[in-house]
Amino acid sequence: MTGPGTVHRADLLVIGGGMIGLAIAWRSAQRGMTVLLADPRPATGASHAAAGMLTPVAEAAYAERELFELGSRSLAAFGGFAAELTELTGLDVGLRQSGTLAVGYDADDMAMLAEHAVLRESFGVPTRRLTGRECRGLEPMLGPGISGGLLVTDDSSVDPRLLAAALLAAIPAAGAVHLPRAVTTIRVAGGRAVGAELDDGTVIEAGSVVLSAGWSSGAIAGLPPGAAPPLRPVKGQILRLRPTAALSAGGAPLLTRTVRGIVQGSPVYLVPRGDGELVLGATQEELGPDTTVTAGGVWQLLRDARALVPGITEFELAEAIAALRPGTPDNAPVLGPSALPGLVLATGHFRGGVLLAPVTAEIIVGYLETGTLPAYAEAFLAERFTPAASAGRAGGAR
Ligand code: GLY
Repeated sequence: MTGPGTVHRADLLVIGGGMIGLAIAWRSAQRGMTVLLADPRPATGASHAAAGMLTPVAEAAYAERELFELGSRSLAAFGGFAAELTELTGLDVGLRQSGTLAVGYDADDMAMLAEHAVLRESFGVPTRRLTGRECRGLEPMLGPGISGGLLVTDDSSVDPRLLAAALLAAIPAAGAVHLPRAVTTIRVAGGRAVGAELDDGTVIEAGSVVLSAGWSSGAIAGLPPGAAPPLRPVKGQILRLRPTAALSAGGAPLLTRTVRGIVQGSPVYLVPRGDGELVLGATQEELGPDTTVTAGGVWQLLRDARALVPGITEFELAEAIAALRPGTPDNAPVLGPSALPGLVLATGHFRGGVLLAPVTAEIIVGYLETGTLPAYAEAFLAERFTPAASAGRAGGAR
């Protein structure tokens, strides 16, 4: 029950039910905390649009060894995370451990792929360089213009919509309560976050508050200046293509693994699902909080994907959607304490919210329990943006 005059008490309030907030709510409830999760429409933002690629190297750049390590840890944990969710809920999450094939089209693309191979190898990721013919041997529907590629066998993908549905089923089963309301104000007393107010007047009193509300995490009233990290929305347009009945009757899927490519300098990916659906993404646009699906965005994605896999043109265009990734100034997430004691940050996951959900939950729940972070998470502290915030770290969250 919620409403004016209602007070709920919990060890933990999680603000925001995207993939990160859902994973934290589930794992913290499993560890015995009383947990409230506030979100009027969980898993309807970036998590709903996401393709669900679990590809740590592809999403890390040269300077981002720490991000690669974080992603690799999460990828390693994903099999267990997914299996546990399925066992608890009976819901499949669409995990496919079939690798990624990154392909190139012209000489410039191949030069970029060679750079990626060097990066992957510098991270110790086993990578196989392939000729165009070898690429087509693995994925016969690739276009004739593909001149070569790289195979990363460790990469996986998951269906984020199925994963969110399983998390939403697992959360109440673990004893956490989802409140379908928006948080309007963070409550602060004695220089510490002590809970929040919801948009219907409900008051939440909580020992700790986790802020995992995506790109708008900083927009909640009551946050002292500098308590939330700098975040910006980064728009991604993404398409879902489905085989027509005639194509489905033909049997073989168009692709068996994720295919990423660079077409005339522009990156594109195609992620196959078990039911034959192909997710085709994604634009990356710095336009503020705009979620318009544009003709140009759809055209660019279809043009580039068609250059890689001409057969996509036979598919039904089932969905075109745009969502906003939460980007920090260095595009890496913010994990752990904030300048406001009691307020813990788990946001800014940019292109990696699905991949990084298991490791983020592990880090945040560990921090809530012990007040400490593992060494591999220290690169993601908020104090890298606001050095003065480091003082807030000392007391831990609980
Ligand atoms: N993780 C892929 C994307 O954000 O487009």
